[in-house]
Amino acid sequence: MADLGHDVLGVDTDSRKISALRDGQASFYEPGFAQILVSAVGSGKLRFSTSLADAASFAEVHFICVGTPQLPGALGADLSQVEGALDALAPSLTRDCLVVGKSTVPVGTAARLSARLAELAPPGISARLAWNPEFLREGFAVEDTLRAARLVAGVTSAEDDAVLRAVYAQLLDAGTPYISTDLPTAELIKMAANSFLATKISFINAMANVCEAAGADVVTLAKALGHDPRIGGRFLSAGLGFGGGCLGKDIRAFIARASELGVADSVRFLQQVDEINTGRRRRAVDIAREMAGGSFAGRNVAILGAAFKPETDDVRDSPALSVAAAIRAEGATVRVHDQRAIENARQACPDLDYSDDVLKVCENADVVLHLTEWQQYRELDPASLREVVRSPRIIDARNVLPLGRWQAAGWTARAMGATR
Ligand code: UGA
Repeated sequence: MADLGHDVLGVDTDSRKISALRDGQASFYEPGFAQILVSAVGSGKLRFSTSLADAASFAEVHFICVGTPQLPGALGADLSQVEGALDALAPSLTRDCLVVGKSTVPVGTAARLSARLAELAPPGISARLAWNPEFLREGFAVEDTLRAARLVAGVTSAEDDAVLRAVYAQLLDAGTPYISTDLPTAELIKMAANSFLATKISFINAMANVCEAAGADVVTLAKALGHDPRIGGRFLSAGLGFGGGCLGKDIRAFIARASELGVADSVRFLQQVDEINTGRRRRAVDIAREMAGGSFAGRNVAILGAAFKPETDDVRDSPALSVAAAIRAEGATVRVHDQRAIENARQACPDLDYSDDVLKVCENADVVLHLTEWQQYRELDPASLREVVRSPRIIDARNVLPLGRWQAAGWTARAMGATR
């Protein structure tokens, strides 16, 4: 927002995060973010505070961008952070404003929060609610924000629509599609988008299961499908399936909300999408066990990658860590490499061993699993890695390594769903 020319005040309850941000430091890794943060803070366009009262008197537009994680032990989303932010902000408002939700929420939430905002705002203050879901991908967050593929505005009046158009004027001038709609449609667009993406990944992983049984190659199959412009080649990479803080929890929250709305049947397929996805993690463990000689007991297993995907240090619901933990639970010694995510991985799975040195992780390994497709793994030299392992066996769970080169260097190499 500061880069788009606005004066911005960022608020968080975590004072350590806020003081780091004031110094131009983020608590997470995101390509390109450090530069944009330093420049926005340096220009004075972006400031930070832990006080919502500061924000209430400062802004005419408030974005709520907090998380909506899965509820523990249930499918639905935990809305306490969104509700908490709104409840804390509303009574302190001192000027008319538009409060805009960016968080991913079950359809119907915005209408409920809209009434709550009107009720909690001080008398005489006009506070309206809009919903403007974000579609950024981790690893491309800056790009996806500044050059968004589309903007969605859920609004209840032409005036509120005009406010959002003004906020995004620079993107609109650049031709970014802008879809103005009502609150429930805006909320649903986000849920539908993530459900579609998850479905596309599970579809190609279902094909991977069939390819494995039939001796066919899912990479070639996906490439051929992708040439059909009606299908498109993106999000058709088969292998280990999706993880992260969004797709999985969003399809589950969608199932829960559809059930409340009496249309559970309409999204029942999402349950299968979820099952196909977690099945791929089990499949990776099965292939690794088979390659390790039928049991992990006493085996050393090297894991390449801990983040849920490359270009992030996020390990939430990481397929790589979930496979690593399952193998460890079966008695192997598991060593994990990642170029960015080791600190987060250590907190999430303290039982695993970690190193930022690929050679150390692979030392005396009986089997190596490539689970997160960081570019550096494509450039590994199979011959020198062969020198350090106990048995040269590798599984490419992301179907991107040049396995021919690995085989030529004496490795037994397997892909997931592919016959390379
Ligand atoms: C996802 C959506 O792509 C964003 O549009 C959305 O804004 C975001 O969730 C959100 O709701 O906040 P993200 O979780 O950052 O973004 O990651 P994706 O790029 O969607 O990847 C998710 C997972 O799918 C990763 O584990 C990735 O490895 C896996 N994936 C992706 C595949 O297994 N195959 C593919 O072809 C693509």
